[in-house]
Amino acid sequence: MNKSILSRIFVVLSLLFVLVLGVAAEDAKPTPADPNLPPVKIGVAVAQTSNVALFGQEQVIGAQIAEAYFNERGGINGRPVQLVFQDTAGDEAGAINAFQTLIADDVVGILGPTLSQQAFSADPIAEQAGVPVIAPSNTAKGIPQIGEFISRVSAPVAIVAPNSVKAALKIDPTIQRVAVFYAQNDAFSTSESGTFQETVKELGLEMLEPVQTFQTTDTDFSAQITNALAGNPQLVIISGLAVDGGNLVRQLREFGYTGLIVGGNGLNTANIFPVCQALCDGVLVAQAYSYSADTEINNAFREVYVEQQGKNPPQFSAQAFAGIQVFVESLIQLDDEQGLDNLDLATLRAELNKIILSGRKFDTPLGTISFTEEGEIVQESFYVAQIQMNEDGTTGSFVFLEEDAKEE
Ligand code: ALA
Repeated sequence: MNKSILSRIFVVLSLLFVLVLGVAAEDAKPTPADPNLPPVKIGVAVAQTSNVALFGQEQVIGAQIAEAYFNERGGINGRPVQLVFQDTAGDEAGAINAFQTLIADDVVGILGPTLSQQAFSADPIAEQAGVPVIAPSNTAKGIPQIGEFISRVSAPVAIVAPNSVKAALKIDPTIQRVAVFYAQNDAFSTSESGTFQETVKELGLEMLEPVQTFQTTDTDFSAQITNALAGNPQLVIISGLAVDGGNLVRQLREFGYTGLIVGGNGLNTANIFPVCQALCDGVLVAQAYSYSADTEINNAFREVYVEQQGKNPPQFSAQAFAGIQVFVESLIQLDDEQGLDNLDLATLRAELNKIILSGRKFDTPLGTISFTEEGEIVQESFYVAQIQMNEDGTTGSFVFLEEDAKEE
């Protein structure tokens, strides 16, 4: 072979190489869902209005990021995912209405509602209709047990809450006397306080009696605070929702309490900052999510969230993302196995639920999760964060106590 033939072969081979590389790069870029194909509708029933919107707004953002993320990556084998939002507002009637509307709108499943208090009324409607529900934030005891179609991505109070009390003891090992407050008209707050009270006893601490109760609609806590402070507590534990919880924190400080405060899941939102402002500083809150978890999916989620919101993503948004992800990945599996088009809606909903509860794993921003047959989340990592307010007294952040990261 002479040199010119050799060099021509070389050129042809090089071109082929470049072509193969180009095709590979093209392959690596995901193909978005085809907007001309019929969408698969997933309902999202969370509180977009009322005082509970302090949580619901974060959930909407998480769900919307998930919708865009999975559609960019092909949706359900090419079919777009379409989220259908229905505002539940803050009460049971709103959640029931939202569920009924979504079920009639032929959604394949529902992410929602925001409060456990709402779930105990609305979930039975989905259960009866055979519609899978994934709870994005219901942490009260007994949620998955509402029915066969009910699961949750929000780890229950029994697993999450004790971590913050243990973190408080690490910060101040001299703590002995503990005052407990909870909103007695709210199912989650009552359930979470039960766990807190058991934890206090298990850790050999003294729980000041009586336990102080309030309503989520209360704005003045002076009577309860006066009673509690008479016992000279070294730790105060609060189970309530965001507005009442934030006001209680503020008033505790205004009454001169200087010890540590543990807030439950209802205080796990930066939306309480405008309520207790500079006085939110130092409150400890257990976490079922850490924005710093270094996984591909969490980094992708965090990047979009930070770009949109200018801060790190909170637990409520991450759990909403994870809930939509569980629906999407289960739908892809169902389509692969049976073909969504071959199933009538009732069968599709039932088969979708079976996949969610099959024990398969989902690699989410919350870490790798799966569900028990009953619908309870199986999750590995939990954390504790402490609120740190900035000098302006209105902005702040949840700072993670990394040494308290806890594997269950
Ligand atoms: N974790 C709260 C509840 O379950 C929001 O109601």
